[in-house]
Amino acid sequence: MPFTYRGDRLFATRKADANARNEEGGRDLLELARGTEGPFYVYALSDVLARARRLRASFGGQSASLHYAMKANGNPVLLRALAREGLGVDTVSGGEIEEALAAGFAPGAIIFSGAGKTVREVDFAVRSGIKQINVESPQELERIAHAARRSNRVADVAFRMNPDVSPRTHPYITTGFRENKFGMDESFIPELRRVLAAHRDSLRLRGLTLHIGSQLTELDSLEEAITKTLPVFRAFRAEGHALDRFDIGGGLGIDYSSDETAGEFALIEEYGRLANRLLGPEDCETLCEPGRILVARAGLLVGQVQYVKTTPHKTFAILDTGMHHLLRPALYGARHRVFPLEKRPDAEPRAYDVVGPICESSDFLAKDVPLPRVEPGDYLAIADAGAYGYSMASRYNRHALPIEVVLD
Ligand code: LLP
Repeated sequence: MPFTYRGDRLFATRKADANARNEEGGRDLLELARGTEGPFYVYALSDVLARARRLRASFGGQSASLHYAMKANGNPVLLRALAREGLGVDTVSGGEIEEALAAGFAPGAIIFSGAGKTVREVDFAVRSGIKQINVESPQELERIAHAARRSNRVADVAFRMNPDVSPRTHPYITTGFRENKFGMDESFIPELRRVLAAHRDSLRLRGLTLHIGSQLTELDSLEEAITKTLPVFRAFRAEGHALDRFDIGGGLGIDYSSDETAGEFALIEEYGRLANRLLGPEDCETLCEPGRILVARAGLLVGQVQYVKTTPHKTFAILDTGMHHLLRPALYGARHRVFPLEKRPDAEPRAYDVVGPICESSDFLAKDVPLPRVEPGDYLAIADAGAYGYSMASRYNRHALPIEVVLD
């Protein structure tokens, strides 16, 4: 995590001084919080860019294109920096395509994924001349063909396959299992062939794509999924389609219970090696769609304690931020670590439930976390909140959205 304590205060550290104790530099987060009105997300941009470089390096000399899954964090400053860094982007709505273009991604760097693309969105994507539409059904393929005909273009498409694998992750974020709405199994192939043949002048099949799930901490299911999908890739090629891309999706996970990054860095290495081993012999461009692994660690959500409420059963720290700003604990039972921006050195830790102002009992950010004594007015930081934090935030109960601060 690019945030560390210096004495009793939490600082944002730059990559270069992350390991250098007692060195000046970095940003005092308490000072930042005191100067900021209301709860906020803070992102360490240099950490995101370092991870993008690490991921790119894991593919070695192989031809690989990184398409950042902007649903994880669509902050415009971050997007601009990733575009400048030479990444592409994976989008899932017309709104995301618009914001990606505004952030400086070239149309040729944009992939459009998602199971429910509307006519308007497909039209917009085709007219914008984006790199590839990841197709989720024969009906969608038909829709794309009509859009291409209307705008007198040829649309580049990839078929999203559902390889029926079941990675060990939360059931809400597995996507490559036969019971999920995503992708297509082999029974769809005859119909896909028919639509392709009927719209030869409007469609170009460029590749296949997979995304089997998110927060994966091992890659055996991904290996199984690619292995199961390769025969389909080869079969389409044998039929004369010039497939030159294989998209392995995103999904790399982190260990939310610890600061230790060795495991996720090893996973990144393994990801590149796996892609090279399985796809190298196919002579194609490898595409991937990483989200969380690039941005989760780089973000904190900071809120201020409004009340400390002690009942015979529990002690609650009630903040000005909650499930409306970070939904992951309420939705998936996700556990994020909590850090006070300033520790009381003399205080014995005790267990707190860190909760928000929303009128629901699912409004918690952490349960039973040991913290040094907390008082109203203190600030608490929720760790590893850079992915699927702000991007899933709402104005439920008519609270304002949090502010976002990008540190560079
Ligand atoms: N590609 C596609 C087609 C996806 O649907 C996703 C994520 C990604 C790439 C990026 O996956 P990542 O590398 O971030 O795992 N809200 C949940 C995660 C939902 C993921 C949705 N799809 C969470 O907070 O854990």
